[in-house]
Amino acid sequence: MSAFVADTDPLAAFEQWFARAQLSNAAADIVALATASADKVPAVRFVNYKGMYAGAFTFYTNYESRKGGHLALNPRAALAFHWPQLKMQVTAEGDCRPLPPDRSDAYFASREREVQLTTCASRQSRTLDSFDTFERRIEALRIEYAEREIPRPPSWGGMMLTPSRIEFRISGEHRRHRRWLYERKTSGWAMSELYP
Ligand SMILES: Cc1cc2nc3c(=O)[nH]c(=O)nc-3n(C[C@H](O)[C@H](O)[C@H](O)COP(=O)(O)O)c2cc1C
Repeated sequence: MSAFVADTDPLAAFEQWFARAQLSNAAADIVALATASADKVPAVRFVNYKGMYAGAFTFYTNYESRKGGHLALNPRAALAFHWPQLKMQVTAEGDCRPLPPDRSDAYFASREREVQLTTCASRQSRTLDSFDTFERRIEALRIEYAEREIPRPPSWGGMMLTPSRIEFRISGEHRRHRRWLYERKTSGWAMSELYP
């Protein structure tokens, strides 16, 4: 853990710990994402973390989903990773905004065609009258794009959460856990240790 104390860049520390977590945990990239509605009602769900971009945590989603609606009106969000093999939790808070469209295009283009069809057909978080309707939407898109590349739907793409606060926590014996909090200042980060 001394690496943390010495490290003045929490994003670099995160990258190191994430790389370690991936060695022992196939689900290291699963992260809880909390958002809140404009009237401050919170909601949480898991998403796939897709790496750092321009100092931000990224993930992909439907911009018209429930979370997308929250983030459009209230960009403040929080993330929580848990890597039990490392006895570690990382939490981060900050503002979310969409990734540049060219990045979303590139990621969408890299996905399997069947997943692209699913993504286009899913009106994420809206009410579905029957699963058949969804499957019919997929088959209609399959015919529409039979001989063509499937374009990324504008309602789907990446989000980037630029952290203003990141906390690393490692479980210790007798619950003497260690917690390091990084808070963004006008230049750089301030680090402090917290009681467990
Ligand atoms: C392991 C796991 C990974 C998931 N990854 C994503 C993801 O990367 N993007 C996404 O939009 N939903 C993902 N989901 C689904 C979300 O948890 C959620 O059900 C969905 O995004 C709708 O959330 P909302 O109605 O709050 O917008 C994942 C679910 C699980 C269980």
